[in-house]
Amino acid sequence: MSERLASVEFLGRLEAEGVAAIEAAASLNELDEVRIRYLGRSGQLAGVLSRIGEAPPEARPRIGAAANAAKQRLQEAHDARQAALERSEGGGREVADLTLPGRRVWSGGVHPITRVIDEICEIFRELGFSKVRGPEAETEWYNFQALNIPLEHPAADMWDTFYLADGILLRSHTSPVQARIMETHEPPVRVVVPGLCYRRDPFDPTHAPAFEQIEGLAVDEGIDFVEFRSTIDHFVHRFFGRQTRTRFRPAYFPFTEPSAEVDVSCHMCGGAGCSTCKGTGWIEIMGSGMVHPAVFEAVGYDPERYTGYAFGMGPARIAMARYRIPDIRLFYEGDVRFLEQFR
Ligand code: DAH
Repeated sequence: MSERLASVEFLGRLEAEGVAAIEAAASLNELDEVRIRYLGRSGQLAGVLSRIGEAPPEARPRIGAAANAAKQRLQEAHDARQAALERSEGGGREVADLTLPGRRVWSGGVHPITRVIDEICEIFRELGFSKVRGPEAETEWYNFQALNIPLEHPAADMWDTFYLADGILLRSHTSPVQARIMETHEPPVRVVVPGLCYRRDPFDPTHAPAFEQIEGLAVDEGIDFVEFRSTIDHFVHRFFGRQTRTRFRPAYFPFTEPSAEVDVSCHMCGGAGCSTCKGTGWIEIMGSGMVHPAVFEAVGYDPERYTGYAFGMGPARIAMARYRIPDIRLFYEGDVRFLEQFR
């Protein structure tokens, strides 16, 4: 007896076979073929329903119900398999969000203080100054005596110094490089000296125990205060802008005579007085002066023949003024969120 194609038993086998084929489908394309074979308009299930007339009339309602149940289970198996294949195929269509910005390779930048140092040295390079360096571990001789600062003199207390050993210290300023350069070079000398200095200072909003300085030194026959002033004026105009004014205030340093502190008009208020300049209208940028004859004598230059000027400035303070940074410690903490703003 041939099998009745429109029968409950046949539907049961068809369903089992269909579910197995669906679960075995290895790709979305294969799954679609299986779906068409079983659930399509001219697929297996549709074939059974078209032959329902061949079954005895009393069996037809049961066959119809079984066909609907088989269709539903095949559809469920199909949907589950489809979801699983979508997750694993092609990186998963729903997983990748193509609207997200791409991941950039992180790149570093130049530290704002280094940038200020480079800019300052470049302005002086155009004026004929070479960039030189000196040691951070220094002797008392270069840090003090060669600069006309006797150790027992109260002036030595202007620099609260870290000692490494007897007579050896961490330089408290870049001025010792003046003496080192003059000892090894004949005039004319024009140098700028960027580098780190160390002082027993608290780490507070305006002080750091390790900080950069840029020293400047020019020595030749016939250098006078006018050349000194005009060089500094030129630097201020180049670095801070044409509208910035310069003021020389009398000061005292053992290695210069006369000595001056140089102020620039406050770029925030233009000189009217504000919180950046603490109401004075001026911001101090450097110590300076005409090189003291005693320094020339210490390094073997003839003070009757040569004259010169020297200056020392703090790039961190200058960067604070330029970028309106309220606390010097921000430059040294290495917080990328702060540093990234200067790239
Ligand atoms: N060395 C001084 C300091 O650290 C700054 C200074 C003042 C440097 C006057 C100079 C100068 O060359 O002429 O406080």
